[in-house]
Amino acid sequence: MEEQLQAIIAETESALASVEARSQLDQVKATIIGGNGKLTVLMKGIAAVPKEERPAFGQAVNKAKKQIESLLTQTAESLDNAEDAAALGKTADVTLPPSGNYIGGLHPLTQTKRRIASIFRQIGFTVAEATEVETEWFCFDALNTPEDHPARDEQDTLYFPKESRFGNVSRKTEEAYVLRTHTSSVQIRTMLKEKPPIRVIAPGRCFRRDTVDATHSANFHQVEGLYVDKKVTVRDLKAVLDHLLRELFGKEVKTRLRPSFFPFTEPSFEVDLYSSNLGRLSNKWIEIMGCGMVDPKVFENVDIDSKEWSGFAFGIGIERVAMMLHGIDDIRHFYQNDLRFLSQF
Ligand code: DAH
Repeated sequence: MEEQLQAIIAETESALASVEARSQLDQVKATIIGGNGKLTVLMKGIAAVPKEERPAFGQAVNKAKKQIESLLTQTAESLDNAEDAAALGKTADVTLPPSGNYIGGLHPLTQTKRRIASIFRQIGFTVAEATEVETEWFCFDALNTPEDHPARDEQDTLYFPKESRFGNVSRKTEEAYVLRTHTSSVQIRTMLKEKPPIRVIAPGRCFRRDTVDATHSANFHQVEGLYVDKKVTVRDLKAVLDHLLRELFGKEVKTRLRPSFFPFTEPSFEVDLYSSNLGRLSNKWIEIMGCGMVDPKVFENVDIDSKEWSGFAFGIGIERVAMMLHGIDDIRHFYQNDLRFLSQF
């Protein structure tokens, strides 16, 4: 009996030694422990064994069966390993240093935003953030933008319908929601929350219904600024913006305020910048941002007394600054996530 078992084990071992594929393994398995396998047949013979010898017989067969199963498992594992190794190719030396040194970096727009924020922090401004989805009131009305102003046109602003469904949630509002078209709405949110004096900048994403080209993007970023205190004048505004632009573009930068119009400031200006050190944009006046003195109507909308308080506001495009700083000629580069572009910063 024992000899028979040893013979079966030995046969299994020698058969497994030449196994090179799963199909061969299955075959060995079938000939030993399959329905008509040698061990199975031997086990079935238990009926013929005298009663008193049956326990010992059973034990011996089970022990042999375990041994055979473990041999089969070992072979299956080495087949697996061989398959993995073949798939991986040459063995990797995990102690070697990595070939490329790919550390992630901050997106150029994030870098520019942080640079602007740190310039303002040094002169006592704090950073405010607000939602990108706004009501028309915050985005336009409170900022003294009349109902028929072209910026409110559906051609320019992305509106949420007054009745809308999000999945299985339906919602009905009195007022239309918009994707904010500028960060100026944060002026209103700030003035409703805080009492003057106020010194705040609000960086953030804005949206317009623009056709994408080298200088337009349907989503872009601005930094809004708001300064409210007693007896604030255009000189204060100019001093702060000169500081910003010289910190960003160099001490030799010249600036000028050009009269303009925004509904929320009076007077309003465009700021132009001149520098001999701006690559393609050197030695000419370039428009860089909008600004002005907070319109008394805006103060009225947020219950700030315009006889006591005055202030200035400004808005600057982060993409525009980043493009000027780095000589980038197409705004689309910022959104394509091409590592050949991004890894330069
Ligand atoms: N909101 C303006 C825009 O998106 C930028 C701007 C202009 C902001 C003048 C201001 C400002 O605060 O005073 O074009």
